[in-house]
Amino acid sequence: MRTRKDIVTALDIGTSKICAMVGKLDLLKGQEDSIEIIGMGIVPTRGLKKGLIVNIDTVTNDIKEALKEAEKTSELEIKSVFMGIGGGHINTVNSKGSVPVRREDREITVEDTRNVIETAKAIKLHEGREIIQILPQDFAIDDQPEIKDPIGMNGVKLEIMTHIVTGMVTHTQNFIKSVNQAGFKIEDIVFNLLASSKSVLLQSEKELGVVLIEMGAGTTNFVIFEKDSLKYSQVLAIGGNHITNDIAIGLHISTPEAEKIKKKYGTGLDMETNTNNQENPNHFSPYQLSEIVQPRIAETIRIVKEEIERADFVNLIASGVVLTGGSSLLKGMTSTVRDIFNLPTRIGVPNLAYQLEDIPDKPSYSTCIGLLQHGSDFRKFGGTSKFENKNLIGKMTGSVKKIFGDFF
Ligand SMILES: Nc1ncnc2c1ncn2[C@@H]1O[C@H](COP(=O)(O)OP(=O)(O)OP(=O)(O)O)[C@@H](O)[C@H]1O
Ligand SMILES: [Mg+2]
Repeated sequence: MRTRKDIVTALDIGTSKICAMVGKLDLLKGQEDSIEIIGMGIVPTRGLKKGLIVNIDTVTNDIKEALKEAEKTSELEIKSVFMGIGGGHINTVNSKGSVPVRREDREITVEDTRNVIETAKAIKLHEGREIIQILPQDFAIDDQPEIKDPIGMNGVKLEIMTHIVTGMVTHTQNFIKSVNQAGFKIEDIVFNLLASSKSVLLQSEKELGVVLIEMGAGTTNFVIFEKDSLKYSQVLAIGGNHITNDIAIGLHISTPEAEKIKKKYGTGLDMETNTNNQENPNHFSPYQLSEIVQPRIAETIRIVKEEIERADFVNLIASGVVLTGGSSLLKGMTSTVRDIFNLPTRIGVPNLAYQLEDIPDKPSYSTCIGLLQHGSDFRKFGGTSKFENKNLIGKMTGSVKKIFGDFF
């Protein structure tokens, strides 16, 4: 069976669940949002810790199960997927490239842009690490910054600012292997957080400056956008599972019980008074629970804030904080984050036209839906089915997008 150009499949292998979604693209309309979710498979994950595979056979089986379910619901055969990758092994760095403009009349050509990207790729990588994605931020011509499409312009020196995502070869290989062993090919790999930013951030937020914090089960990731460019991102190996464990230890209960209580009563609000009168059948008070949950949330969010301060990006996030990932559903999360950052804070739910009414806990699916959106861009701007180092974000015009699509 030939691959249908109008069908993309997303695969998000998270610490708590594997999510597979089949999207039908409206290629004729060429609209980013015209993706209809026509199939879905969600399976709890058993072989991941802090976003990394610890049992490849279990993960392979879980992937197979999720994709088979997505095949059943979409009534289509799935051959290949757009896969997200995350976990504590991911590092990101900004890198600049520079080349002299070759032509005598100093007009910048496609060749110059290809060469300048090559120079930006020359970063020092520790042994065992590889580049997963290169994200263009801006070009500069003769020190004039913030140029989105330099082709056809004139100058002596062309520079590019990029954001490079790197990961451990072994961890990435484990993800690739588990998908292949499950019987599926990979069309492209995308850093989870970037997929999420595609599905939850508004264009105006990315222009004005925003931090997106995604708190999942095993990880907390954050990314900063400003002037429609990705400025900074980081992965922390702390997530909702830590809160569940704290509750289990604090209340002397099992982890599954703690998970249930967290979802039902868990609150990030700091309760100042002991409201013991609201005793419940589980014999804990909301005060007791908040005493456990609140410090962990506050600690995690403070780490994020400190990292942003350390990197000197605090002044870039004028439009505030957007929270997503399953843990953003913790009651009181928004107000805790708002107090710490002292900035407007909202929950980021995938913004669509995707007919998702029947999906509960929508922030858990930001990554998976963003992967569908990436797949849609991939189809529109062209890409070979080699899966590394390719992603398009930002307000690049068609010609530059095409180069990034073809380049790697
Ligand atoms: N209503 C809720 N209240 C509180 N926490 C919730 C709620 N729903 C889900 N969670 C928590 O969200 C986490 C799962 O989020 P998500 O699905 O985004 O993670 P994941 O993608 O599996 O993990 P990761 O991205 O960290 O590898 C779990 O820790 C879960 O307990
Ligand atoms: Mg996730």
